[in-house]
Amino acid sequence: MEILRIEGLTKVFGSGRLEVRALQDINLSVSKGELVALLGPSGSGKTTLLLCISLILEPTAGKVVFDGQTIFQKDGWEGGADMRRLRREKVGFIFQSHNLIPFLTARQNVLLPLSLIGIKGKEAETRVKELLEYMEIADRADYLPALLSGGEQQRVSIARALANNARLILADEPTAALDTGRGTKVMDMLKRIARENQSAVIVVTHDERMIEGFDHVYHLKDGCLERNVMPESVNE
Ligand SMILES: Nc1ncnc2c1ncn2[C@@H]1O[C@H](COP(=O)(O)OP(=O)(O)O)[C@@H](O)[C@H]1O
Ligand SMILES: [Mg+2]
Repeated sequence: MEILRIEGLTKVFGSGRLEVRALQDINLSVSKGELVALLGPSGSGKTTLLLCISLILEPTAGKVVFDGQTIFQKDGWEGGADMRRLRREKVGFIFQSHNLIPFLTARQNVLLPLSLIGIKGKEAETRVKELLEYMEIADRADYLPALLSGGEQQRVSIARALANNARLILADEPTAALDTGRGTKVMDMLKRIARENQSAVIVVTHDERMIEGFDHVYHLKDGCLERNVMPESVNE
């Protein structure tokens, strides 16, 4: 079942001599439970693409369909404010630097997105506990981010991204700041989310060693997307 479809997505920054075409006519379809990798050199448009998919950034042109609903079409937002709500309720974003709130504990950081969608009290506490256990970080629940290792911080931020039961998880170079061991563990967690939770997961990475077991790998080059057929998917 298709969860995300983008058609002709284009993003231009600036104008005239300063114009940068960051994304050029991108087409992409991602289904439930699919694990998708986006590779590309620095400046190729990877972050811009994730920000446009989640509509944190407004595309210049194209169409974004999320869970069967057109949420953006080239002449403007479809649904306006609902889009922000949709993002809060259905999309999880994991940043390169974990972006945890420094004065909140791991538990409180995961609790926050739940309170934003009105889940409170015992139900919220139980959900947070489950998520931290799922990310194998429950023993660090009461630690502030600064007292956690990079890998632990990233696992808390995955737990936070999952709190709203996101149908779509977007991760921007989630392992870039980690050593190989910790990076692999974080990647394993993302794989598990796709397999067990049936969320669609799109991971930006420029570490080719990290993409083993992914369903699809795409390359971004100067804002253009190229499909790469993985050896194991040839027989599908
Ligand atoms: N806010 C912005 N204003 C102007 N140019 C931008 C902005 N954000 C990104 N760009 C440009 O768009 C291109 C793609 O950037 P980005 O998506 O960050 O690449 P990547 O994540 O692959 O390194 C780059 O040329 C970058 O300089
Ligand atoms: Mg980037």
